[in-house]
Amino acid sequence: MKLLVTGGAGFIGTNFILYWLKNHEGDEIVNLDKLTYAGNLENLTSIEKNPRYSFIHGDICDSTIVNKVMEGIDKVVHFAAETHVDRSISGPAVFITTNVVGTQILLDAALEHKIKHFHHISTDEVFGQLEIESHDKFSENTPYNPRSPYSASKAASDHLVRAYFHTYGLPITITNCSNNFGPYTFPEKFFPLAITNILEGKKVPVYGDGKNVRDWLYVEDHARAIDLVLNKGKIGETYVVGGLQNGISNIDALRKILTIMGKNEDSIEFVKDRPGHDRKYDIDWSKIHNELGWEPIFTFDEALKKTISWYTENETWWENIKSGEYASYYQKQYPHS
Ligand code: NAD
Ligand code: TYD
Repeated sequence: MKLLVTGGAGFIGTNFILYWLKNHEGDEIVNLDKLTYAGNLENLTSIEKNPRYSFIHGDICDSTIVNKVMEGIDKVVHFAAETHVDRSISGPAVFITTNVVGTQILLDAALEHKIKHFHHISTDEVFGQLEIESHDKFSENTPYNPRSPYSASKAASDHLVRAYFHTYGLPITITNCSNNFGPYTFPEKFFPLAITNILEGKKVPVYGDGKNVRDWLYVEDHARAIDLVLNKGKIGETYVVGGLQNGISNIDALRKILTIMGKNEDSIEFVKDRPGHDRKYDIDWSKIHNELGWEPIFTFDEALKKTISWYTENETWWENIKSGEYASYYQKQYPHS
């Protein structure tokens, strides 16, 4: 089988490609990636000479390239997106272009090339927020209520993917997952920002009161969930994927990181809250568990330790990022740190 992976030089795409080539020995992967600030080919040097892997530098909004790479493809796994909420607040336009228009261009090409299965990677953020005290969880039946430009653009892309199923019969599936963590996460996201700041002897900026709750999914568990959906998922269906039984507050998650890294609470710095900061995400992942037999293999604590070890052992990887263009983003985003 030949898979087209979009956005394979980003965090989850990288982990997915490495996982797939290891676990599906007969399969080939084509990785289409624009290499934005978040795309990093260094992640994939271990497979760059693998005959079952090829890389195409291109934009999913470019229909000529997209139609060319779709030739001979059996299944598409669509990760490519602008993904950071804070960047969507300071500059929403590119989120609409890539996440909405780019997805539509891929869908058109998938129809044209009679793709057997188009799998769209989305987020639990499309459901909006839960109240802290609430015992509700997001499921496949939760109405959409996105509240950031990022989540609004992802919601629009989900609607388009379903529209192409109902209107044109394109064989699609969607997964809406919670916050991922693990190796190769760009250090703008909370966990790698915290871990690398601690390694650099800096404080960790915590938005607002730190009580916002997230569900956390280890990226390797996510890759297995996508694998199951690609192989056993029902066409036209959506599956939500989460990693925990109950979400955890940012401050409690950070305390765990600090304990593992042998630091105390002096490393915490409360900073101005994110505008429209969603209070709580929590996932009921019983559908994918009951129907496809998926569950996370790694406990949260184990996966956190593995992630911290990876950042500790791969300083050059994140130092290169933090010393480049990202330094000026950090200065703007955290002016008083
Ligand atoms: P990322 O920001 O680490 O990587 C995104 C990748 O997409 C990069 O390699 C980038 O170069 C590429 N890309 C961006 N615009 C492109 C374009 N126009 N054409 C081609 N390539 C382009 O993202 P990630 O964290 O790996 O997220 C992957 C997917 O998973 C996204 O669709 C995101 O919405 C979804 N998701 C992520 C999380 C998370 O916690 N990271 C949680 C839920 C859902
Ligand atoms: P993030 O990793 O940006 O993911 P998302 O916004 O998609 O959930 O943030 C995770 C949580 O951590 C979120 O509640 C915002 C918070 N956060 C901080 O407290 N400080 C930070 O510097 C960042 C980037 C995030």
